[in-house]
Amino acid sequence: MSSSSAPPLRVCFVCLGNICRSPTAEGVLRSQLQRHGLSQRVQVESAGTADYHVGALPDHRARAAAAARGVQRNSRARQFVREDGQRLDYVLAMDRANLDALAASAPSAEARAKLRLFRSFDPAAPPGAEVPDPYYGGADGFEHVLDLCEAAAECFIAQLRSEHGW
Ligand code: 4NP
Repeated sequence: MSSSSAPPLRVCFVCLGNICRSPTAEGVLRSQLQRHGLSQRVQVESAGTADYHVGALPDHRARAAAAARGVQRNSRARQFVREDGQRLDYVLAMDRANLDALAASAPSAEARAKLRLFRSFDPAAPPGAEVPDPYYGGADGFEHVLDLCEAAAECFIAQLRSEHGW
């Protein structure tokens, strides 16, 4: 475990419902940070742009797929509020529609500068690459979400390490 006097970076993943993709990304990043000994450096959370599922656990399919890879998710869904942008360092959207929704509600240029597509950290992903919504599909969609999140999270951590000299 690393220690530092600097306050931890705050990262929030954002999808639509906060029950499939963003809690998955949250769990994956948290587990990778732990493996890298960086848990104290970064705080991870997630939210949705919509309020449909506020208070709900992650979708059972997302929990099952993540648990099979050793990632536990028991967070409750919440809706992103524009004030969140002030205390966060990175707001990482899972797709373009949610990135656009976040940008439209961002109160300032400073808040907009914190917005990125999560997969933009992955140099193997094409420009504009998204984590597709698995909600209306089958179990393979949830495996795909995990694969994409694992790849992007490793690249995100590599960027943080090089940027901050960790
Ligand atoms: P998420 O997936 O944005 O990855 O949490 C969805 C969850 C719920 C709905 C759509 C997408 N929905 O329409 O209720």
